[in-house]
Amino acid sequence: MGREVETVIEPAGLEVTPRKIEIAISPDTPRYWFDGHPFKTHYFNALSSTFPVGERFFVRSVRHYLDDIDSDSLKQKVNNFVSQEGRHSIEHDAHIELLLAQGYPGIRRFERVDKVALDFLNRHFPRFALAATISLEHFTAILANELLEYPERWISPMHEDMRLLWQWHSIEETEHKAVAFDVYQEVCGSYSLRVLAMVVETIGLLLDVLIRVGYLLWKDGLFWQPRIWWQGIRFVWGKHGALRSILKDYFRFYRRDFHPWKANNYHLVKEFLEAHHADFK
Ligand SMILES: [Fe+2]
Ligand SMILES: [Fe+2]
Repeated sequence: MGREVETVIEPAGLEVTPRKIEIAISPDTPRYWFDGHPFKTHYFNALSSTFPVGERFFVRSVRHYLDDIDSDSLKQKVNNFVSQEGRHSIEHDAHIELLLAQGYPGIRRFERVDKVALDFLNRHFPRFALAATISLEHFTAILANELLEYPERWISPMHEDMRLLWQWHSIEETEHKAVAFDVYQEVCGSYSLRVLAMVVETIGLLLDVLIRVGYLLWKDGLFWQPRIWWQGIRFVWGKHGALRSILKDYFRFYRRDFHPWKANNYHLVKEFLEAHHADFK
């Protein structure tokens, strides 16, 4: 067993709880639902559209090692992780359906390309697939932390149809942020493999999102507008920018003694649930 699993203490009372929500996405949801801005909206559209294929990949990657896990409590967490990610895929599929209805059919092509690549990893390189999963789970965890910690920056500018989807996803990503990592530590634990996977996945994810944003802007007839791109660069790299603000958290992954719960932000989940318990079944 990897040393980090033994030494890190989970937050008291941590539970990985699959929940159902009524998402509010509808054909009436505005096209530019984030701050009324094409680039900002398409940044989140691009991310969201990677989730269903990506999260099904996470599930396959972790499930592959289910029989190798000794701890019953970790096995239970894996089962709940699988339920949570399965539900996230379904709800973000609804977002993809909206994008298709709005006239962005190329999103399906991007999904097919990603699926072929990720299926290949699952089939031929299951250890790398698990390392890729923990890398991408780190991304989702630090994005989720940003959304929960600074709702005035990330949730308030969203149209109300979108808010609960992103908040719900953020609390569940936070709850299960260490599940795949703990499995990785138990069945593999290689530092060099997870660093390699993180480098590969960082390049892959950033390219994937950039290409999708470019495609979405192109379909809107906005691709050749420098002003939109300049505003977009400020949105991701300016003060409190979407990528700049997660940079420090991102690099924690490269520490040898990294563990997701060394950054204990579980209070954000508890505070959110106390305030919004009526939204969940
Ligand atoms: Fe998820
Ligand atoms: Fe996740």
